[in-house]
Amino acid sequence: MLTEVTATRYVTPLREGGSLPGIVEADDLGTYVMKFTGAGQGRKTLVAEVVCGRLAQRLGLRVPRLVGMQLDPVIGLAEPDPEVQELLKASGGLNLGMDYLPGSIGFDPLAYQADPAEAGRVVWFDALINNVDRSWRNPNMLVWHGDLWLIDHGATMIWHHNWPTARAAAAKPYNASDHVLAPVGPDIAAAAAELAPLVTEDLLTEVTADVPDEWLVDEPGFDSTDAVRRAYVEALLPRAATIHERITMEAEVRPRSGPPGWLAERLPPQSDKNERKSGDE
Ligand SMILES: Nc1ncnc2c1ncn2[C@@H]1O[C@H](COP(=O)(O)OP(=O)(O)OP(=O)(O)O)[C@@H](O)[C@H]1O
Ligand SMILES: [Mg+2]
Repeated sequence: MLTEVTATRYVTPLREGGSLPGIVEADDLGTYVMKFTGAGQGRKTLVAEVVCGRLAQRLGLRVPRLVGMQLDPVIGLAEPDPEVQELLKASGGLNLGMDYLPGSIGFDPLAYQADPAEAGRVVWFDALINNVDRSWRNPNMLVWHGDLWLIDHGATMIWHHNWPTARAAAAKPYNASDHVLAPVGPDIAAAAAELAPLVTEDLLTEVTADVPDEWLVDEPGFDSTDAVRRAYVEALLPRAATIHERITMEAEVRPRSGPPGWLAERLPPQSDKNERKSGDE
């Protein structure tokens, strides 16, 4: 079960996020990034955040602590933005909170040097959960106190949007060409050897037990919330064992010497300057 807290003050919206998450204070004196059940993306986004976030934590990857957050929409009454008002009104009850990392900065491949071992763990994990949202356009990683933190696992496990075809969908490959860490040369084999054995039925059962019942109830085709939890386990367990064999990366992102095309495009002024500088010395 997730620890539960109650929201006491809506501080400000995080406009970078498509789902309009907010910074919210809670009765435990913590500050959280709150993700709302009333957001357009729906409650499955929150289920994915819990399943994948808890799984990542158990595998030793850094993900901010997750909590359940009770919301009484009345705390947003003074909020001037009608979009925020609507979101709060639609989200009374249990929502998701994630420890706010104060002073963290968005991942920038020029400012944080991931090594192939760390990149391998992240890419392997993203392949397992079929994360399509860790590209350089939207890295969904933060750097905090010099370490890499993973956030935003809402757009993962595509199979949970169509359970009857879930097994087949979960057997599909993962194309990591667009992954923000692909250019680092992720050591997928080492990550798979280290992490795949940890993804056991017991672990997945524990992780899915953390998903609140109210986000799983009345799922079409299932007669209990535990049956839905079981479906997540059954999709992820076989995928963990073999997904490393089905991670594809286009050749152009593989070379580790020099920036890949997309990074070079972002760099011209700075890299030109650096080159000239080193030539002058
Ligand atoms: N735990 C956190 N600590 C500090 N800042 C955070 C945290 N979580 C999210 N943020 C900030 O809020 C932004 C939006 O968060 P997030 O990506 O989780 O939202 P989203 O609505 O799912 O976004 P997306 O548009 O990618 O779907 C992040 O890019 C980051 O800048
Ligand atoms: Mg995001």
